[in-house]
Amino acid sequence: MKTWATVLAVIAAGALGCGLRPAAAQTKASAKSFDIIDWNGGKFLYGVDYYPEHWPESRWEQDAAMMQAAGINFVRLAEFAWVKMEPAEGQFDFAWLDRALKVLNAHGIKAVLGTPTASPPAWLYAKYPDIAAMDENGVRYRFGSRRNYCLHNPNFIAATQRIVTAMAMHYRNHPGVIGWQIDNELGDPICYDPNCRAAFQRWCRSKFKTLDGLNKAWGTIFWGHTYTSWSEIPLPWNTLFHAHNPSLALDHRRFHSESTRDYLKLQADLLRKLTPGKAITHNDMGLYDNYPMFGEDYSNSLGVGLAHDLMRGSKGNQNFMVMEQEGGLPGWNTFWGRQAAPGLFRTWAYQGVAHGADGICYFRWRTSRYGMEQYWQGILDQDSYPNARYQVVSQTGKELAQLADLLKGSKVVSPVALLVSPDSRWAFHIQPLVKDFDYNRQLGLYYAGFRRAGVSVDVVFPESDFSSYKILVAPSLFVTDQKLVGKLTDFVKNGGTLILTYRSGVKDEHNVVTNQTLPGPLAELAGIEIHDFDPHTNQQQEVAGPDGVGRPARVWFDILTPTTAMPVLSYSKGYYAGKAAMSANRFGQGRVYYVGTELTAEACLEGAKREARGLGIPLGPELPQGVEYAARVKDGKRILFLLNYTEKPQSVILGEAWRNALTGEPEPAEVNIPAFDVKVLVNP
Ligand code: GAL
Repeated sequence: MKTWATVLAVIAAGALGCGLRPAAAQTKASAKSFDIIDWNGGKFLYGVDYYPEHWPESRWEQDAAMMQAAGINFVRLAEFAWVKMEPAEGQFDFAWLDRALKVLNAHGIKAVLGTPTASPPAWLYAKYPDIAAMDENGVRYRFGSRRNYCLHNPNFIAATQRIVTAMAMHYRNHPGVIGWQIDNELGDPICYDPNCRAAFQRWCRSKFKTLDGLNKAWGTIFWGHTYTSWSEIPLPWNTLFHAHNPSLALDHRRFHSESTRDYLKLQADLLRKLTPGKAITHNDMGLYDNYPMFGEDYSNSLGVGLAHDLMRGSKGNQNFMVMEQEGGLPGWNTFWGRQAAPGLFRTWAYQGVAHGADGICYFRWRTSRYGMEQYWQGILDQDSYPNARYQVVSQTGKELAQLADLLKGSKVVSPVALLVSPDSRWAFHIQPLVKDFDYNRQLGLYYAGFRRAGVSVDVVFPESDFSSYKILVAPSLFVTDQKLVGKLTDFVKNGGTLILTYRSGVKDEHNVVTNQTLPGPLAELAGIEIHDFDPHTNQQQEVAGPDGVGRPARVWFDILTPTTAMPVLSYSKGYYAGKAAMSANRFGQGRVYYVGTELTAEACLEGAKREARGLGIPLGPELPQGVEYAARVKDGKRILFLLNYTEKPQSVILGEAWRNALTGEPEPAEVNIPAFDVKVLVNP
């Protein structure tokens, strides 16, 4: 499982205080007034991840000069350099880092220092072998990779406090250090050792207070798994048939998430206390550190857009920074990603900006000669030749410097929100639905529908305030609680449009199936009852509306019985042909749609357009495939971004007259965007 849900829960729980902003500005009120662009003297933060410890010192000066020439104004340093800074227990050496900073600072380049806890030194494992995480079979991972630690190990916590304190004390007054990145891509692994088990038992005790309460909430009467002492509670580890009580498993996910949050908070509290005035951030994993050509099929730029919006959402819709933006071909020891045309390294940077990034940091400055990431290209290759990527990064640096004043204070404003439920996502991971089901794809489908229609989308979480949105999409809202149902009800009563999809309202907050008629606590709101469903096995299903046109449907088929709702689409095949597949219900001042199956991307686009139009939400222009349209808003005026991810020139017809923000020239009504290029436009 990817870790973003863990880290989102961490961020949502407020441990970090919303990413990159000064430690002194950690309250909600002051956060509003903080602008990332103000943080480095009004500059757009443009950086690279740099590892001076991998290269001879004689190379540093030339590196800094090349960075400066490319418009780089900050570097991230030291996040894996624990052993260089603490070569033996309690003995510190920052002289090398001081020298590197001096060289960089002399070229106008500031630093974000990484606390190095993702990569503990070999001597620490040798002295305290139990700091390594234990897998679910009871075997500790060996030294050799990274992120191998137990969050509940007292020796590891002490070592963390020691290195973070030493760094903080050494750099607290350093003018060339503007802030901190805590650890690196927090989240994994889950450790199953006795310390973690004891901590989980304490966590359960503090949550449920009585064993009776826990036994009832988890339904431990099933298979007679009732606990008679807190010390009997296991972790969801290596059981026969991998069978775990889903309620225990969900609470264990929450426990791991909170443990990660507490570890982050431990470091954040130390840094805030010891280095007031310096900012604190983290680089989240998967949907944040931005590697479009790695792993999943991100040829669809919308996946990357969603990742950016998710991160903006985790900060309560404030602007953010991308701490790792793909700077070259991704590849690890055993595999390669796909190479990108050089122009894309610029287009992706602008894509981040279009979605609210006020800082971009490329991973990494130069490809490593050593270790697991010899195949993972930086901007430069090992020979430091100023290649095409370097030229593109340099061009981008100059442009973003030019755009800093325009971008400052602008943000993404969205009429539509996508509700992401970490609990539902975990619950689907614990008990996968059908083979074809993918919670992320459900999110992506509705997100893409609105975004392709030219409508901005914010990502919200169950704790967020929904009141400013016209439309809230909550795909497969599997796990709910009374509070969330109450918030959704108020949203609709007050005029909001809520879109629910299949398998919503099935589980309570303990991951126990409701005994109400489905969709359980959402049935009244949706105005339907579900008395039968058909998990997709091998039949081809179709749904049709009043126009009689069949549209493909897949994955899952909830068979709806409208009570107060009207049917919108009906199934065309099988024993439930003619029964409702999608419904619309008026409720209070608003409306609730329930989509009982997975529709195609085209159907989602069609639906998004119709709904937005109906609510008076302006649509964007018609877009060719592979072109993205996005906007930031400042003083009521839009800054438009047209991004072409294809290898062909494309054109987009805009209704109004726009001016090119970089050249100052007026753009024709039909804007031409060269291959892999971008247009940033403002009203004349
Ligand atoms: C990131 C990680 C970096 C580097 C990069 C490329 O996930 O934070 O340290 O490993 O991937 O592999």
